[in-house]
Amino acid sequence: MDEKQPLLEFRDVDTFYGSLHILKDVSYTVGEHEIVALLGSNGAGKTTTMKTILGLVQPRDGSIHLGDTRIDGRSTREIVTLGVAPVPEGRRVFPKLTVLDNLKMGAWTRKDREIQQDIDRVYSLFPRLAERKNQLAGTMSGGEQQMLAIGRALMARPRLMILDEPSMGLSPILTERVFDTIVEINKQGTTIFMVEQNAYMALNIASRGYVLQTGRVILSGTAQELLSSDMVRKAYLGET
Ligand SMILES: Nc1ncnc2c1ncn2[C@@H]1O[C@H](COP(=O)(O)OP(=O)(O)OP(=O)(O)O)[C@@H](O)[C@H]1O
Ligand SMILES: [Mg+2]
Repeated sequence: MDEKQPLLEFRDVDTFYGSLHILKDVSYTVGEHEIVALLGSNGAGKTTTMKTILGLVQPRDGSIHLGDTRIDGRSTREIVTLGVAPVPEGRRVFPKLTVLDNLKMGAWTRKDREIQQDIDRVYSLFPRLAERKNQLAGTMSGGEQQMLAIGRALMARPRLMILDEPSMGLSPILTERVFDTIVEINKQGTTIFMVEQNAYMALNIASRGYVLQTGRVILSGTAQELLSSDMVRKAYLGET
């Protein structure tokens, strides 16, 4: 890692739901322009991590910085305006709005007039969305809704995109398409922090990763290190 300040610094964070202690002294860093994967089994605290970054869950201890700006304690609205765009678990889109209107909603934090240009950029990443721009989002297939959720996040021109299980429920081919697009989005300048159960796919595109187990980081390293670790191979790559 270079000495430069990371884009996201999640430091020594503890979170609770009531008296349930979920994240226990958890730290992650995500460098500018990196793709970083967060792995972990069900209930480990991955979605809680994403909610904590977004200010939907407040840490009881620790700090979170986006560049120079401390973001813990701020509202979700402020955090999104500062440049964090979520692609939430379960690809939530506005079902009663068209594809195009969903994309426009993604640009609500912006005041500039280049929105059409960005809609065109999303359409070039996902031609299917262009074909279906007037279709109600709720009637799109699961994979199409995932593309829309990612496209909508992009419309904010985020510095950091956080994705929670983008491959969930997608066929292997669609998963590959979505991952290719994440790489393309990253090349165009957006930093990526992604939760994935599909460890192999995630570590293939990430430079580094973290493994969370019952609320603690038990392993971290480069994607290569994680792919060759016995623990990851047994727990996530189905090897015995
Ligand atoms: N609102 C809540 N109130 C109480 N407990 C919660 C709440 N949300 C999550 N939890 C608990 O916190 C723990 C971590 O949940 P989280 O959703 O972060 O897991 P995850 O790693 O995303 O799991 P999955 O892979 O199943 O999505 C779980 O034990 C869960 O039951
Ligand atoms: Mg989750």
